[in-house]
Amino acid sequence: MQTKLTNSARTAARFIKTGDIVAFPTETVYGLGANAYDEKAVKKIFKAKGRPGDNPLIVHVAYKKDISILAAEITPSAKKIIEKFFPGPATVILRKNEIVPDVVTGGLDTIAIRMPASKIAREFIKACGVPIAAPSANSSGSPSPTSFVHVLKDMKGKIPCILTGPDAKYGLESTVIDCTGKHPVILRPGSITLEQLKKLDKQTKYGSTSGKVKSPGQKYRHYKPKANVRLIADFGSRIANSKNKKAFIGLSKKLAKGYELVKISRTPEEYAKNLFSFFHKCDEIGIKTIYCEKISEKGIGAAIMNRLKRASVK
Ligand code: TXA
Ligand code: MG
Repeated sequence: MQTKLTNSARTAARFIKTGDIVAFPTETVYGLGANAYDEKAVKKIFKAKGRPGDNPLIVHVAYKKDISILAAEITPSAKKIIEKFFPGPATVILRKNEIVPDVVTGGLDTIAIRMPASKIAREFIKACGVPIAAPSANSSGSPSPTSFVHVLKDMKGKIPCILTGPDAKYGLESTVIDCTGKHPVILRPGSITLEQLKKLDKQTKYGSTSGKVKSPGQKYRHYKPKANVRLIADFGSRIANSKNKKAFIGLSKKLAKGYELVKISRTPEEYAKNLFSFFHKCDEIGIKTIYCEKISEKGIGAAIMNRLKRASVK
């Protein structure tokens, strides 16, 4: 299959209208979209990514009014989050309406909904004229793409079209928040932090990782580059004499000596933005081990550590 690159939202939307799939930019990571009402088209996403069928997709809308078409009820906890953080890097989970095919939600009776802030993402969804079901545009298990070049490298020949746009502003996927109950529960940390959500509802908390898996995506291998990922907090835990090509990403310059490739970020937000892009670069130049600096799980640090812990599982 030929993969067409275009910077025209309308050209890309034509693929969606004929039942095909398109990778498109958002402010978090690039998504791989299909018409959420078209079962056959949605199945193509699972096939292109090699994604397990029970891992549900996020449905992206261009207008807030579309949320009530997809969701059976907009709960008070969702209302507050939508008012404050839509459009943006937040996803709410609500009970779904029957109009949403089961293939989108992996058979669950709930649906994940997000309204991207990215201008080109919204232009694209508007041009499609339907809500767009989209996971991140990477092969299942790999780090998410933060530029169209990452998508092209991973998906060339597997998808018919990539809508090209700017690099992702945040570089980490959205915060996924279960709003079906009385108080919001964070199922996947992201750029909208627990601290920010607590300002709307003090009782907001992280979902328990034990017991029934509420967000199916959390049980799968994830975010893994080809290189091994190791977490380090100080000099002591670095394998200084390893002969393999190694790289470092983090906040502290003093930890960064002796590596082939180094990325120092000035803030946790910058660390989040650089992380997946650095993973992609390391794979490109054949780095064997990526040493990532552990940081405090406050604010955006929670989302960074969530991705790092999962990327470092052997
Ligand atoms: O920023 C993002 O969220 C990006 C952009 C493209 O929007 N999308 C993204 O999609 O990261 P994906 O499929 O890679 O991750 C979606 C996560 C998965 O962990 C999935 O299990 C969870 O959201 N999810 C989707 N629907 C759900 C539902 N009904 N209940 C619980 N979790 C759900
Ligand atoms: Mg993903």
